[in-house]
Amino acid sequence: MQGLAKGIIMALAAWATGSAARNINRSEDGAAGVCRRATAGWVDDVQTKLVPKLSKEANVYLPGSSGFDDATTRWSALQAPQVNVVVVPNTAADVVETVKFANKKSVPFLAYNGAHGALTTMGKMDTGIEIYMKQLSSVQISQDGKSVKIGGGTNSKLVTDTLWTANKQAVTGTCECVSYLGPALGGGHGWLQGHHGLIADQFLSMDVVLANGSLVTLNPNSDLWWAMKGAGHNFGIVTSVTIKIFDIQYSNWAIETLTYSGDKVEAVYQAANDHFLTNQPSDVINWSYWLNNPGADANKPVIIFYIIQEGVSAVDPAITKPFHDIGAISIEPSAGTYKDLAGWTGIATDSPPCQKSGLSNPRFPIYLETYNVPAMRQAYDLFAAQANIATDFHNSIFMFEGYSNQGVKAIDPKTTAFAFRGDNYLAAPLISYTPADSALDQKAANLGLQLRNILLQASGRQELHAYVNYAYGAETPQQWYGSEQWRQDKLKALKQKYDPKGMFSFYAPIA
Ligand SMILES: Cc1cc2nc3c(=O)[nH]c(=O)nc-3n(C[C@H](O)[C@H](O)[C@H](O)COP(=O)(O)OP(=O)(O)OC[C@H]3O[C@@H](n4cnc5c(N)ncnc54)[C@H](O)[C@@H]3O)c2cc1C
Ligand SMILES: *[C@@H]1O[C@H](CO)[C@@H](O)[C@H](O)[C@H]1NC(C)=O
Ligand SMILES: *[C@@H]1O[C@H](CO)[C@@H](O)[C@H](O)[C@H]1NC(C)=O
Repeated sequence: MQGLAKGIIMALAAWATGSAARNINRSEDGAAGVCRRATAGWVDDVQTKLVPKLSKEANVYLPGSSGFDDATTRWSALQAPQVNVVVVPNTAADVVETVKFANKKSVPFLAYNGAHGALTTMGKMDTGIEIYMKQLSSVQISQDGKSVKIGGGTNSKLVTDTLWTANKQAVTGTCECVSYLGPALGGGHGWLQGHHGLIADQFLSMDVVLANGSLVTLNPNSDLWWAMKGAGHNFGIVTSVTIKIFDIQYSNWAIETLTYSGDKVEAVYQAANDHFLTNQPSDVINWSYWLNNPGADANKPVIIFYIIQEGVSAVDPAITKPFHDIGAISIEPSAGTYKDLAGWTGIATDSPPCQKSGLSNPRFPIYLETYNVPAMRQAYDLFAAQANIATDFHNSIFMFEGYSNQGVKAIDPKTTAFAFRGDNYLAAPLISYTPADSALDQKAANLGLQLRNILLQASGRQELHAYVNYAYGAETPQQWYGSEQWRQDKLKALKQKYDPKGMFSFYAPIA
């Protein structure tokens, strides 16, 4: 909203509330006209120069309309981008026109999809156009049943559900409330990656609007292909993507949810290391969260350890026994289908982490090979001291995601911009809090950075491997995209060729 005086925003709302693009002209009135002359800037020209070029079904919203509020609400309040206009394209051509318009006016623009992106780099956008992707939502299975074409604004859950009814599945993110493409463009983790690789490993072709407004179709022979698989947010707006799909091999899945008190940290992570460390079966996934659950422990965060197995109606007791022997507060087995996984692990559309409730939600990710048990204790003690139920950070979650990895490791790491195929699990403290002042932001960052640093130090590594889609924002491009010189050179050369002015540099910029 910066760049517009408050009174003007209110007046502009008069023409913004008639939300359909074509309606903007019709709802124009004298009062609004006076104020528009006062702005005499690019926002004015949206109506006169951009709207006539958009398809009938496109929408445009300005501040003051409920459409604007809905379209700009984000999952994390920390360093959220600020926009003056929302364009909701209905076709790829609408995206093209919007990008061309923005370029002509030298106005920044940013694609919004599920709006769960949370890097602090996004806060550098303090004015400009939001391109809200949600009307580009579609899932079309091919005649031969081997691929699906997904619209650029399609939600992950719609992909899963549509495929499921056709007896098909694909690697998608695990979380129901994010878009398909947001995770995919950064590599993308999902339940089926043990079989088939990352989300981005499934791409077959895609339509992309480049920084200069050209709409191009990319395929495995395009020089940008490599970059779209891990650093894709930097290069364009994907209006549709075609990916591999598979027949459902096993529809049944089972889980055991074990809850432990914090004194069991060593035992739990020693067991996670000892069992299947070298050959975790591709059908077993273990995840854990540290979070406050006063019903289980009134003072300290508990450990919630999930053991998930595909193709069974109960998790193999040979896998669960060492975890039972540790002595859990509770053990809850469940059985169902693939579609139950998000609900079981607390990331379904109605689960708390999916809600946009105004909290600041920075994460501090680190990929690692094994759990360093003494470091897990040190991290737990710090987390328990500073993020317990009595603190500002009581909603925080320390996540440890041990997806199965065979499919990810089977792909040559050189073939994608995603650089961290050698690692085994992804840890990330999510420090969640009600926004207050910069002192609190700093306190949260200090905690997150310290927790991550404990794990990094104990790993004996010099280099931080940070999953770009969970990143805090203050990491370096080497930490997001790999430190090998050839990777950095290749990314920079492509960026120079396709986005020399850095139009796509709000989300984990390469340069
Ligand atoms: C509750 C939760 C669960 C999550 N689960 C997973 C998971 O299972 N697997 C995983 O890998 N990650 C997961 N993530 C991380 C996730 O990948 C990132 O948060 C991602 O940015 C979310 O995408 P979005 O569309 O919701 O966000 P947005 O903020 O809308 O998009 C993020 C950025 O992606 C770019 N972008 C979006 N759409 C397009 C497009 N069509 N073309 C080009 N660029 C585009 C834009 O630069 C945008 O700024 C999860 C995050 C949360 C909060
Ligand atoms: C848990 O997941 C990690 C990471 O994939 C793996 O190394 C470990 O062997 C797994 N342990 C169990 C018990 O599944
Ligand atoms: C846009 O950029 C692409 C890639 O650099 C280039 O091939 C294309 O010709 C450019 N289009 C225009 C209209 O300049």
